[in-house]
Parts: sequence; structure tokens; C-alpha cells
Amino acid sequence: MQIVSSLSDLRTARLSLEGKVGLVPTMGYLHEGHLSLVRQAKAENQHVIVTIFVNPTQFGPSEDLSKYPRDLERDLNLLRPLGVDVVWTPTAEIMYPPSYQTWVEVEALTKGLEGAMRPGHFKGVTTVVAKLFNATQPTKAYFGQKDAQQAAVIRRMVLDLNFPLEMVVCPTMREADGLAMSSRNKYLNEAERKAAPVLFRALSAAKEAYEAGERQVAALREKMMSMLTAEPLAQVQYVAFTDFDTLEEVELIQGKLLISLAVFFGKTRLIDNIVLG
Ligand code: PAF
Repeated sequence: MQIVSSLSDLRTARLSLEGKVGLVPTMGYLHEGHLSLVRQAKAENQHVIVTIFVNPTQFGPSEDLSKYPRDLERDLNLLRPLGVDVVWTPTAEIMYPPSYQTWVEVEALTKGLEGAMRPGHFKGVTTVVAKLFNATQPTKAYFGQKDAQQAAVIRRMVLDLNFPLEMVVCPTMREADGLAMSSRNKYLNEAERKAAPVLFRALSAAKEAYEAGERQVAALREKMMSMLTAEPLAQVQYVAFTDFDTLEEVELIQGKLLISLAVFFGKTRLIDNIVLG
């Protein structure tokens, strides 16, 4: 496994890879969710590149970039047994050199959900992902369904900017009690960690009602909110019912639906989602 940091070392490493290359972009502090993306990339390509970069431009001023968990040695130890060819760990100076002024922005798809709560977040995500794509030239790129809006936005960018690659979105990995795996789970104290699976329970209750024939969003919302508000440690920021493709809010479910939510447990903000239909 080659570990490179500079752009020129990355380019040299990339040139040595023949055949299909799978890219798994990450911000590090890897968990089983990331590793499942790496395994799928390994199964579908001759080579795998993993990038580890805590991208400053996708953090808002009130979001603590400096506190984002980092542990490169641990990440590398997790990646070594998986047969990863190259790990690229650029610095912020490499990605955003002085006088940097070029941005990639997806419009309508970034207006709601996470985009509404975290202004500027997706501009940072699409810009860095475009740069990662350009630098690593992957055949396929792997993302998790847990960040459903991110996946939709990057898919749009790939189409709109003609990136010659295939996007693969992999299922959310969950702990045994249903909590979606996330690097941010590390911030939860014991009581918050115990309370957090209420997110998946609420999403599952909506799924059950949908499968029993319920198509009114108001009924599903009520069911979910009554479960979420019964958990004193959960502070709901939003529960949204949107069309899977356009991410526009719906009231009556007719096609594929994305239910997504963002909930605070203390200072930790967790997101999760489920797709119906
Ligand atoms: O999902 C993430 O970890 C990040 O948003 C990504 C795609 C690596 C871009 O920084």
C-alpha cells in the first residue's frame, strides 16, 4: 500500500495503476461503513485508491473543523489488510493553495435538507470531490447512502460536468441496534449513544406504515415525531419527506421517497435516512 501526500507523488502512483481503478473518498476516522465501500471497490476494480482529507471548505463557521476526529495510523492499519493500492492524504495547502478561487456548485439539489441547515456545505463537498476525481481519475467512485443528499448532488455533478466515471452508492452500515455508522458517533456520551437508535426505530416505523399501505406524509410524520419527541435526549432539527430524485418535499407518496432526518443529541448532530418504494 503506497501512502502519498503530494500531488506529484499521487500522479506517479496513479500512472502505475493499469485497468479499472475504484476511488473511495473519505475524511478519515474510518469505520465499518467506509471499509464496506473499500471492499466493494476492491471486488469491482483492479485497483483501489482511498483518499483521506478532512475538507475544511465543507465545514461551516459554527462547525468545529479542528475537533473532527483524526487518527491516520489507525486508518492505515484498517486499510492495509483490504488490499488498497494507494492512500492519498493531501494537506489543505495542496488542495487549496494560496489564491485558490475555483468552486463547483450544484444548484437546486443543494437548496433543501442538509443544504438548508449547512449553508455552503455542498459547495465545499462538490469542489473537493471534483478535485479528487480529477487527481485520481477513477473508473468508479464509491459513496455511502447514509449521506443521501451528498450522493444525489455528486451524481448530478458527475452528469453535468461529464466526469468519465461511474458512481456507486452503497447501503448504510448500521450497528447491531440500528444506529447508522458515522465518525461523529464517537462524540456521543453513554446516555446519548443509548438514545441514538431512536432514529432508526422512527425510520423503520415509517417504513412499516408505508408497507401497510399508508401514503399520506402527514401520518408518517406524526408517527415518527411521536417516537422522536418521546426520547428526551433527542432534539429534532428536521424530518423531511422528499422525492428521491428531485429532493423536493412531497405530501402524498406516489413514487420513490427519501425520508431523511437530522437530530441533535447534546452537541452531536446525527443524520440518517431510508428510501421507500
Ligand atoms: O462523505 C464524506 O466523507 C465527505 O463529504 C467526502 C465525500 C469525502 C468529501 O470530503
